[in-house]
Order: sequence, then C-alpha cells, then structure tokens
Amino acid sequence: MLAETIIKQLVAIVGEPRLLLGDDDLKRFGIDRTTLWTPAPSAVLLPGSVAEVQAIVRLANEHNLAVVPSGGRTGLSGGAVAKDGELVVAMDRLNSVLDFNPMDRTVTVGAGMITAQLQDFAEQQGLFYPVDFASTGSSQIGGNIATNAGGIKVIKYGMTRNWVAGLKVVTGNGDVLELNKGLAKNNTGYDLRHLFIGSEGTLGLICEATIQLTRPPLESSVMVLGVADFPAIMDVLRCFSTDIDLSAFEFFSQQALEKVTAHRGHPKPFETEAPFYALLEFENSSEAVLEQAMAIFETCVESGWVLDGVLSQSLSQASNLWKLREDISETLWHWKPYKNDISVRVSRMPEFLREVDELVARQYPDFEVVWYGHIGDGNLHLNILKPETLEVAQFHAKCVNVSSEIGQLLAKYEGSVSAEHGVGLLKKDYLHYSRSAEEMAMMRSIKRAFDANGILNPGKVFDELS
Ligand code: MLT
Ligand code: ZN
Repeated sequence: MLAETIIKQLVAIVGEPRLLLGDDDLKRFGIDRTTLWTPAPSAVLLPGSVAEVQAIVRLANEHNLAVVPSGGRTGLSGGAVAKDGELVVAMDRLNSVLDFNPMDRTVTVGAGMITAQLQDFAEQQGLFYPVDFASTGSSQIGGNIATNAGGIKVIKYGMTRNWVAGLKVVTGNGDVLELNKGLAKNNTGYDLRHLFIGSEGTLGLICEATIQLTRPPLESSVMVLGVADFPAIMDVLRCFSTDIDLSAFEFFSQQALEKVTAHRGHPKPFETEAPFYALLEFENSSEAVLEQAMAIFETCVESGWVLDGVLSQSLSQASNLWKLREDISETLWHWKPYKNDISVRVSRMPEFLREVDELVARQYPDFEVVWYGHIGDGNLHLNILKPETLEVAQFHAKCVNVSSEIGQLLAKYEGSVSAEHGVGLLKKDYLHYSRSAEEMAMMRSIKRAFDANGILNPGKVFDELS
C-alpha cells in the first residue's frame, strides 16, 4: 500500500486519471505473458511526457520505491512482472510519431507505439520496418527495444538492435539521456544506446526511439517443406542459404503442426506427414530465383532430406503458410507450456540438436515436447506442455531441473540460455551458463552507474546489487 502523501505527489505529476489503483488494473498491468507469478504492484502510472517519467523516477528514488517499466506486456520471461508492490510505469500514452525524416529514412516515435503501427507508418511512407513477430499487434516499440526483440526475419534483417538509430531514456538515477541522435556514424566513445537495448528496464526507461527504416522487400515466395529428420533440416538450410538470399528459415515439428491445424482450423500444407517442417521465404525477384529454388528443392528430395513441399502461388497462400508457424505460440498457451528459448551458432546446431534431442527424450519421457523456432538463426523454441494431471508448481519444478541440464549443454556449446525472449525472472538462474562471473560482475557495476539505488526493475536479469 502506498502512503497517502506519495499518492498525492504521484497525482501531482501525472494527474488523477493517470494513476490507477483498482484491482483489475493492478492485475492487468502487473503481468506479462508468463503465468508463474501473481501480479501485485501498488499502483500503475500512465505518464504523458518524458518530464513526467523523470519526475516519477526522482520521486521513486526519494522514497526508495521500486519501478517496473511496462510496454505491451507480451514478454515471455517475466521481465515486466510487478509482484512486490512496485510502481508500474506504463508507456501507453507516449505513442505518437514525433518526427519523420524521409532523407535519413528515420522515424522518431514514443516508446508506447504499438509495433504494428510503426510497421504501418513505414508502409505509408513507402518504407519498411523489418522486425516482425506474432505479437506485433500488441507489443510496443519500447518493450521491443528493452528486450532486443528478434522474430521471424532475423536471418536477413537482424534483431531490433540493428534498427535503433537513437534513444531518449530516463535513467534509474533520474537523468534524461539522448543517445546517438539518429546518426549513422558516431565514433565518440562508448555507445550507451546499445547498453539500453536488451537491458530489460534495469538501467532506464526508454521514452522515445529513432528507428531506421529501409526499402520494402519485393513480393516474397514462401515454401513449406516436410523434412525427414532433425539433421536434415540443417542440410536443407545449407543448400538453400548457399544460393538464395533467404528472409526467413523457420522450422516446426509434426506435433506443432497437428496442434495449430486442429485448434486454428488451418489446412495442412500437403498430405504427406513428416516429423519436421521447414518454412522458408525469399524475395521473388526473378523467374531465375524461382527456378533455382525449385532446383534446390529437387536436390533435397533426391538426397532424402525432403519428403514433400509446397511453394506459394499467391500472396494469400504465402500468408496462410506463415500462419502455420506464427500461430503455434498462441495455440500452445492452452497447455501452459514451459518455454525454452535457446541458441547456438548455426554451424554447431547439428551436433547440439543431437544432444538436446537425447536429453529431452531421456528427461521428459512422459511429457509432450513441441519443437519450433528460428533455426536459420540457430534459435530453438523447446516448449514442454503441462500434463493436465500436474499442478503448475509441480510441473515447473520438474522443468527447472531439466533446464539446468540444458544450461550445461548450452555452456558446452557456448550457446545462449535466452536467444530472444530475454532473462527477466524466468531465466536469471541460468544466466551463468551463458555469461561468465566477470561479465556478470560488470553488468552489476553498469547497473549501479545508471541506477545507484537499484529502484529499476529489481530482481530482473540478475539478483540484488552485491
Ligand atoms: C515465436 O517464435 O513464436 C515466439 O518467440 C514466441 C514463442 O516462442 O512462443
Ligand atoms: Zn521466437
């Protein structure tokens, strides 16, 4: 419970209607897509300017109040969870286009802008914002930057980091920093902008972002291929990516396809069943590219890697094929999945896949395990579905044990315990499998420099300052 005097001071900053204290609001704003924690913030604030954000942070420092920055709350690692009486600062109202520069092809937006609106804005200007994933309809650009969101086009366009040309942030100490100011070249010492990208709200609140846009892709073709086994996916990737500039290379297992077709009513891509499916996309720039894609497809069939396949013949068919992959995550929520989001270098993937497959078969003999992910980036999503008979807590306890083994395997392969979902609360116990003790100590020092009192998103990414 917040003291009456603090409530008064907060109201003086944001105005009464922008301070939410009702149970429903506290529940709604205190949680992301994870289901493991009970939301319990003490208040939700909806600031309307950078100055208001700054005033909130200064007040929070004075009274030692914890602050959780909040975007679209589509995160999958608990990074936006407020479970201990924190103040949630939601960026929803900072959602407009502040500047557009056609010459630089940059747009400056408030952090609360919904990702899909940014994509639409770019399209209206004849340009393209290439970071794309299933939750663009509700995620916010500030949250994307705070988690360095990846998604389905990373193989060609990279992560969110590649598209951030400038940031305006309020640090945990209450300072306003303008970072990089949209410059393409700026070698003037440490690039603090990149520290904030992926920092999950532990260093500052991202208030505004200058985003680089690019030329739109030509019409793209989509192929879905039924693949004979796990290792063959990597052979198929190698063959296609050698000769074709891919904009996506995704995969999913037969279980994932079964679930998404049964629950969403999408038709199967073809009759032949395969243990795995690859979905690939490329710009259909000439007849020659299509012919080359077909020739590679035939080589893959002759080699026994591919059992069947389909090539989109229209934009609507391409979009329907994409749904088979993009709707998996939403479909699986029904089973309260335990989510692993892991990566290794693409070149190490064949070996790693063999070991992780053995580990999962050994450790989860009775659980349903659904595989999918951005295999072209070396990123696997391994979802363990909760059996109906198990309570969430018991289920989670079992998964946690296996996650440690997966962590050890990742350490052996020099991989990442969180490829694109962030660390938040869910992955912090596994961070040491991917980051050395020296790196973690350095991260704590950096946190202290920007947030001396440790008020910003405490307990996320790593525990207390030590
Ligand atoms: C995806 O690739 O579909 C997203 O990262 C979400 C998920 O892993 O469930
Ligand atoms: Zn993903």
